[in-house]
Amino acid sequence: MAAVLQQQAQSFEVEQVGVTIGAEIHGIDLTQPLDDATFARLEAALIEHKILFARNQALTPEQHVALGKRFGELEVHPFHRFGEAPQLMVLDNHKDNPVLSTDVWHSDTTFRECPTKYSILRACISPALGGDTLWADMCAAYDGLAEPMKKMLEGLTASHDFQTFRRLFKKTDEDQARLREIEKRLPNPTHPVVRTHPVTGKKAVYVNALFTTHIVGVSAEESMALLAFLCDLPRTPEYQFRVRWKPGTIVFWDNRSTQHYACNDYYPNRRRMERVAVAGDKPF
Ligand code: SIN
Repeated sequence: MAAVLQQQAQSFEVEQVGVTIGAEIHGIDLTQPLDDATFARLEAALIEHKILFARNQALTPEQHVALGKRFGELEVHPFHRFGEAPQLMVLDNHKDNPVLSTDVWHSDTTFRECPTKYSILRACISPALGGDTLWADMCAAYDGLAEPMKKMLEGLTASHDFQTFRRLFKKTDEDQARLREIEKRLPNPTHPVVRTHPVTGKKAVYVNALFTTHIVGVSAEESMALLAFLCDLPRTPEYQFRVRWKPGTIVFWDNRSTQHYACNDYYPNRRRMERVAVAGDKPF
């Protein structure tokens, strides 16, 4: 007979750690299925604080996938190696596998028509020093713009591409055919330069240095100058929140209101992370 999973209410605490972004969750056991009330509190805290972290969460890959599914449909990343389940992406960097692209500020998979809503990342092996991840509050970045700049960005859209991952394909016929097939599945979407969060109604700057190629309807020079300015905003310390990983640390973030950057300062040491990503909606 199949085991019946008990869903028990958990009375976790949320400790705000950053001024506009970042909170720590205490007293939660994420290996256990979350009942509706606990899940609703967790998602509300995630939307409010934009990133949440909890320590000492010894999830199996199956539990990690089950936790992700609680938030919605899980994505399968088109370019990454998988773990035990196709939805569980493994980021295992070491001497023979240096970082490819996570050390550039970005929001996840904006090269999709409907980019990732939430990402849930867990540290399995952490270097003794380094390998922190930084997040930037892109609503705070928007709020920090002058009113005439906000007005100018209204209605602008930008094109996105998975550009960095093109490097993974060799010049062979087989690889190029695979690349053409992926290009068909992921034709360059355009997204608003400033998106509105569907739950909070808050506006966020939504172009990033990794996947945004150009702003639509302006000259190449205008696009480059504007993107250089906007893609630099996450570097502002006042908008940032930083997590020091330990094995068992888990982080949830809302890609609709944040960007992130994984510090690539630990090479040649090993850092192994596992991630699931929850599918999102078309940005507006
Ligand atoms: C990511 O960019 O999704 C991974 C971030 C990290 O490895 O810290």
